[in-house]
Amino acid sequence: MELYLDSANLDEIRHVASLGIISGVTTNPSLLAKEDPTVDVRQRILEIYSLVGGHVSVEVVSTDADGMLREAEEILSWFPEATIKIPMIPEGLKAVRRLSQQEVDTNVTLIFTPSQALAANNAGATYVSVFVGRLDDVGSDGMAVVRDVREIWDIQGLSSQILAASIRHPMHIIEAAKAGADIATCPYKALMQSLQHPLTDKGLSAFLADHRKMQEEIAKAKGALV
Ligand code: E4P
Repeated sequence: MELYLDSANLDEIRHVASLGIISGVTTNPSLLAKEDPTVDVRQRILEIYSLVGGHVSVEVVSTDADGMLREAEEILSWFPEATIKIPMIPEGLKAVRRLSQQEVDTNVTLIFTPSQALAANNAGATYVSVFVGRLDDVGSDGMAVVRDVREIWDIQGLSSQILAASIRHPMHIIEAAKAGADIATCPYKALMQSLQHPLTDKGLSAFLADHRKMQEEIAKAKGALV
């Protein structure tokens, strides 16, 4: 399963990209709004793209297909490898169909049911983003939707990439992998938490302490010889 970072923060993206563990970044209008409002969106997106060099999803804010297509054209003029993120509404599907005919990659966002995922796939979506955490928030089982989508995709031989989004903690990442998601897009905190274990830190401290002790003993032995 590939990992993407769900962020528009350059420090977070730079750090995680330097670890070599992500192959893309997903953004949305809320993530962009959290960052410096004086930087224009085009500049911010291009900075993100230069740091990642892979998948970057950029979301449109129009709610009619023509508006979405105009925005997509503008985003693609910034960098032609952009993935256009489109909300799961009927007008969005219309735009996805047109963009897929032009071989433009699309990520259909705000998917909460397998039937929405199926419609997005049939319209030609490259990625279907299932919002796991937001379903959990309202007392539903978000990961069950990812599992259902995977099962349907395997039975039907469907091609859209299944993207587990709205990830909240490290267990979501593991559950998404077990559910058969192709990608999980994770916030910085969850991704960094997923790299840690207290026994790793404890074990490293012990290794380093033993190494220091050995060096001291070697130095002492050398001193005794002089
Ligand atoms: C997906 O691409 C979305 O940007 C994101 O995962 C939403 O997550 P949230 O529910 O934490 O806002």
